This record gives sequence, C-alpha cells and structure tokens, in this order.
Amino acid sequence: MLRRLHADQPETFAFTPANQAWAEAQITKYPEGRQASAIIPLLWRAQEQEGWLTRPAIEGIADMLGMAYIRALEVASFYFMFQLQPTGSLAHIQICGTTSCMICGAEDLVEVCKNKIAEQAHELSADGRFSWEEVECLGACANAPMAQIGKDYYEDLTPDILSGILDRIGAGEVPVPGPQQGRYAAEPASGLTSLTEYEAGKDDYNASARLAVDIGETIKRIDGTEVPLRAPWQGTDAPKTPKPAKKDRAPAEKPTPAPKIAEKRAEEKIAKPKPSKAEAAPEAPRGTKPAALEAARDGKPDDLKIIKGIGPKLEKMLHGMGFFHFDQIAAWTQDELDWVDDSLDGFKGRATRDEWVAQAKVLKDK
Ligand code: FES
Repeated sequence: MLRRLHADQPETFAFTPANQAWAEAQITKYPEGRQASAIIPLLWRAQEQEGWLTRPAIEGIADMLGMAYIRALEVASFYFMFQLQPTGSLAHIQICGTTSCMICGAEDLVEVCKNKIAEQAHELSADGRFSWEEVECLGACANAPMAQIGKDYYEDLTPDILSGILDRIGAGEVPVPGPQQGRYAAEPASGLTSLTEYEAGKDDYNASARLAVDIGETIKRIDGTEVPLRAPWQGTDAPKTPKPAKKDRAPAEKPTPAPKIAEKRAEEKIAKPKPSKAEAAPEAPRGTKPAALEAARDGKPDDLKIIKGIGPKLEKMLHGMGFFHFDQIAAWTQDELDWVDDSLDGFKGRATRDEWVAQAKVLKDK
C-alpha cells in the first residue's frame, strides 16, 4: 500500500502542555547526540493526541529532535501503525484479517465495517466519527475473530456483536473489552479440560480487561493528564499511581476515570517549574571556538541541512554560532570540532558522530 501524507493538512500542530512536558522528558532518556531515538514515542503521542499524524506534527517533532524532516517522514510512513490520514473522531476499528481470524469470520466483520462505517478502509464514516482498516495478526488468535478498537481488544466477535459494540460506542458508551461470548480469557471455548482445579479469576474480568476498565482510555484521545509524568532517570520520579481497589469496584461498562489523586499529582508535577538552564552550572566546552562570521556571505548561507544529521533546529543553532557555509565546517580542526560538539546544546557530540567535517569537505567543492 502506498503510504503518503494526506492531501488535507491542518496549518499547525502543538502538543498539549502536559504532552509537551511528557515529550521533553522522553527526549532526556537518550544520550547527548542521540535524541532522534525518541522519534517513535513522540510520533505515537502526537497520534494519540490527534488521532492521526499530520504533516505539521511530523515536522514539529523533527524540529524538537533536530532531525531533517525527511528522516521523520521516513519513520512515519514506514510503520503501518502510524495513521497518515484522519481517523474517526470517536473510534478507529482495526479488524484482524490474518489466518485464525480469517477462518473464524473476519471477513464478516469487515462487511459490518463496510456497511456501518464506510465502503473503503481508512475512509471516514459520513458523520466523521468512525473509521476502520484491516490489520495483520494482533496476537489474540485464541480469541479469533477479534478487533482492536482504540487501545483495547474485543475478542470472540460475531457480526452482531461487533455491530452492537459500534452502536454502543456511537451512543457514548465504551463496552468492556475482552472476550465477548462468556469466556473469561483464552481458555478452551468448550470448557476446561485440564488444570480444572484452578478457579477462574475471582474478578469479573481477566487481567487485560480489568486494566482496560480501570484505566478507561480505550477510545480516549490522550492529552497527557492521564497519569503522572515519570522521569526516574532524571531523579524526578512522580508518586506511584494508586492501585484501584478491585473489590470496591462494580463492573463498569463506561471508562473509569483515572484516580483523582493521580490526576492531581500529575498536574502538580507538570506545574512544577523546571530548573532553568541558567541556574545549572554550565560546563565550559572543550577546545577552541572556530572562526565565525557575523552573517552569511552575500546574505546567502549554504543549506547546511544537506549535511546528514543537521535538521532545521541544528542549522539555526549553527547560524547562531556564526557558521553558515560548508567551507567553514570543512576547515574545523579536531580542537575546534571538540568545541562545537560540546556547544551543541541538546545535541552534544552530533558533529563528530555524523562526521560533519568529512561531509562538508565534499559539499564545499560542489
Ligand atoms: S490471527 Fe487474528 S489475532 Fe492472530
């Protein structure tokens, strides 16, 4: 399938403040110069927030990570889990069409989607609230046929059951995920033939369904306030989310909001001002600053983004340091390269790692 950006794109993208704080914390998981490793979690969070990946979102995240736009686009267009077109505002239905599900009736489930949502996969329903697609095995083959709706699995489906689930979601409900025909989990549909001395779980739901009900995010668009921001690698671990008391909970069909205390702590965590960079003792860079220019010669800087590893953000940073041309970079000595490496705030070591000098030597003569 050809995967390309959707024709209709919004003008802008911005993470919600809580998602922005989350994204910034994710970036700090990676060593200096390796921030691009955060590309998948950040794209995923943007999709969780918006329902799909827009061009401004992909490019905005590339900027955050100092990546060339094409590198971020390559990731977004490679993985089928990234939706490059709008999805239903209420729910996106993913019908498993692989072997077990196919022989147990997945085609009939696809028919339900065609009739109730849209004739073609990835098309929005007339009211814009639903979309669907067929996906590969989701690893719940023992409960075939099944579908992923939002974040959770609905298993042991029939066309009527799926149709009812869509109706209920359309009416504002979120049916309990998990097996839909009385099975507790993935035990034989005809009943236990071994380990019969073990009782099924005492809870009404198996562990996955229970977690889905407790978290209550099956079809929620994620704005970042759902769980406390955790960044233990920064020594700023937030309080643990209190475990919901199972025995106190009645079986719920609507999503249970996250525990209030967790939300409150998340807000506190996010509201807590981060120490400003000015307060942290800055380490002097090694080496010597290379010769810099006040401005580009003739007002025409080279396109430094052609150098692999330099994105719009790094290019801007280099301009700020007085580097505009390939020949400037090509002339850096090891001592000067050390200075640049240490001065790339948030991208330390990138110049050496991506061999800017060697690349610039080739580019300056072109
Ligand atoms: S074949 Fe459908 S979940 Fe594996």
